[in-house]
Amino acid sequence: MAEDTLDDRSPGGPGPDAAALLDQAAEFQDETGADIHEGALRHDERVPGEFWSIYCSDVYKKFGRNEVLRGLDVGIPEGMISIILGPSGTGKSVLIKHLIGLLFPDSGDIVVHGESVPKMTLSRLLEVRRKFGILFQDGALFGSMSLYDNVAFPLRQHTDYKEDQIAEIVNARLVDVGLQNAGDRVPSELSGGMRKRAGFARALVLGPEIVLFDEPDSGLDPVRTALLCDLIKQMHEENGGTYVVITHDIASARQIGEYIAVLWKGKIVQSGDAKSMFESSNPFVRQFLNRDVQGPLGME
Ligand SMILES: Nc1ncnc2c1ncn2[C@@H]1O[C@H](COP(=O)(O)OP(=O)(O)OP(=O)(O)O)[C@@H](O)[C@H]1O
Ligand SMILES: [Mg+2]
Repeated sequence: MAEDTLDDRSPGGPGPDAAALLDQAAEFQDETGADIHEGALRHDERVPGEFWSIYCSDVYKKFGRNEVLRGLDVGIPEGMISIILGPSGTGKSVLIKHLIGLLFPDSGDIVVHGESVPKMTLSRLLEVRRKFGILFQDGALFGSMSLYDNVAFPLRQHTDYKEDQIAEIVNARLVDVGLQNAGDRVPSELSGGMRKRAGFARALVLGPEIVLFDEPDSGLDPVRTALLCDLIKQMHEENGGTYVVITHDIASARQIGEYIAVLWKGKIVQSGDAKSMFESSNPFVRQFLNRDVQGPLGME
C-alpha cells in the first residue's frame, strides 16, 4: 500500500490541496484517535467529500434503555474500500441506517459529502439517498419479481429511462455479477450467493457514489465469500466511489479492506489503514482481528 500514496497519485507531485487534505485527515485523526500512516491512504478522487466521504462525530443512539451508539466517531475516507468490523449486536446495522437517514441520532452528527444528514430537509435527504447503493444483509430482493425486474427496479423508480436503456444497464450489471443467464428466475430459485450478487447488481444500477454493504458475507461459505469479495474489489476498481463494508469476517477485511474501523459497544475502538490495524497493539482489536479466545471480548 505504501506506493499508493496521495503524492504518488498526483501528477507532478503533491497537488495544491494535497497537504490540506492530509491536514484534514490528521485533524480528524487527532479527534478520533484514528491511526493513519502518513501516505498510507490512497486518495485519487478529491471531490466530493474531500478526504472524508462520510464522518460521524459523537453519535449517541438508544432504543428505550438500550444504548446502542455511545459516542461514536468514525471517518470513511473518500474513494476507498472501508471495513467496519464488529461483533454481533454492536450496532453495525444501526450505524448504516444513520448514514442514509433511516434512523436519526439522539445527539451527534453524521456528515455525508459535507452535509449533515440529521439537519437535511426530507426532500434533500431523498436526493442524497440517491448517492447511495445499498446491499442489505439479506439481499432484500422482491420475492415475486424476476431477478431482471429486481435489478431494474431502482431505474424504473428513479429515472425516466426507456425500457431499452434500462435493459442495457441491467444486462451489463447482470454480466458484471455473473448472473446473465438468471434474469428470468425469481429469488427463491437462487442460491444465497446468487441473491447477494443480484443485490449487488441492484445496488450498482444508479451509479452510486457510495456503496454500503451490510454483511455481504453472512450465510455464504468461505469460498463464495472470497469470490464475492473479489467481485466487490473488481467493481470498485472499475467504478470507483466509496465502499463501506460492514462485517464480522476478518478474512473479508483482510482481503479487501484498505481502511478498517473496529466497533464495539457502540464506539469505535480504533480505526486506521489496514496495515496499522492488523499491527495494532490495542487488546480488543488484537483479540478480534486474531480471533483470540483470550481478551476483553467474552460471550456477554
Ligand atoms: N429499530 C430498532 N428498535 C429497537 N432496537 C433496535 C432497533 N434496531 C436495532 N436495535 C437494537 O440495537 C442493537 C444493535 O443492533 P444491530 O442490528 O445494529 O446489530 P449488528 O451489529 O448489526 O448485529 P449483527 O452482526 O448481528 O447484524 C441490538 O440490541 C438491537 O436489538
Ligand atoms: Mg447487522
